[in-house]
Amino acid sequence: MSRAVGFKGLGFYLPERIMTNDDVAKIVDTNDEWIRTRTGISTRRIAAANENTSDLAVKAAQAAIADAGLTVNDIDLILVATMTPDMPCPSTACLVQTKLGAPTIAATDVSAACSGFVYGVVVGQQFIASGTYNHVLVIGAEVLSRVVDWQDRSTCVLFGDGAGAVVLGPVESGGILSTVLGANGAQADLLKVPGGGTAQPTSLASIEARAHYLKMNGGEVFKHAVRGMSDAALLAIKKAGISPEKIACVVPHQANIRIIQSVVERAGIPMEKVYLNVHRYGNMSAASTVVALCEAVKEGRIKKGDYALLVAFGAGLTWGAAVVQW
Ligand code: ACO
Repeated sequence: MSRAVGFKGLGFYLPERIMTNDDVAKIVDTNDEWIRTRTGISTRRIAAANENTSDLAVKAAQAAIADAGLTVNDIDLILVATMTPDMPCPSTACLVQTKLGAPTIAATDVSAACSGFVYGVVVGQQFIASGTYNHVLVIGAEVLSRVVDWQDRSTCVLFGDGAGAVVLGPVESGGILSTVLGANGAQADLLKVPGGGTAQPTSLASIEARAHYLKMNGGEVFKHAVRGMSDAALLAIKKAGISPEKIACVVPHQANIRIIQSVVERAGIPMEKVYLNVHRYGNMSAASTVVALCEAVKEGRIKKGDYALLVAFGAGLTWGAAVVQW
């Protein structure tokens, strides 16, 4: 059995607090002009002290389930893509399940950093295509403001908090036409949170070394991201059996405007077809692509019958792309 799988409902949630580049410049030695010209980011959202990743995820999930015209009892599986779980154990998905008031359905996290949402969609798709489940809730949620090092200007300016969710289900036609996933663990050192796991358990020494914060070689990640995302995008388009001109809207992971410009240039797709919100929210890792998808649909940039391309890249290194007919 193989069923076509599509997006039945979408929803997102962004914390209320807006942090401008000028606000960041009060914490580290930076300025609005540098951040805007190097990254395209103007503002980002910051979660309130009482908001954890699961809280953002629940609000996005409730919106997506309502948008699908379903109730939580219709969901068969919860997947949460995140690199900022509420805690190392249990999974954020289990915390989301109980906060949603869902029955004792399967729930697990997907760990693929900024590519996590695309990975989650592909995992969820398999269960529906095979007939195992009917509705899978895929959430991308992050509170990155708690893992970035607010003493490191080269990283803390880039990230923000937020969550987006989709309900996947069987569709009569269209839906997810092709997918591409990949990873290159040999480049794991380029972007990581080295402390707090079994390799470097939390200790006074690991805290003093600031090992529990995100470390990144920005220049190298930039180069890999451009190559990885454009290759994945072109392969997904080819696998879908369409030409790049047919794509109505590209929804890329929103890390940096310059990465996105280079990716679509390499893929031969004009910038007018790209949905952008990096200026508003910065890089929300696993939440970026899904929040951008929600906004693109809400703003009418993706309409029924359109071909949309999702493409993401992140720590791991990991990458993923999907062509969807709406
Ligand atoms: N404010 C002011 N100056 C800064 C800042 C800052 N926030 N950060 C760095 N600088 C300085 C550097 O110290 C350096 O100064 P120097 O020339 O005197 O040494 C100068 O700016 C240039 O630094 P670069 O690192 O060369 O700047 P670059 O133009 O490469 O931009 C950036 C850095 C924005 C991090 C870029 O490399 C990037 O976006 N990389 C991708 C990283 C990314 O998005 N990762 C997210 C996860 S993966 C993903 O989502 C795709």
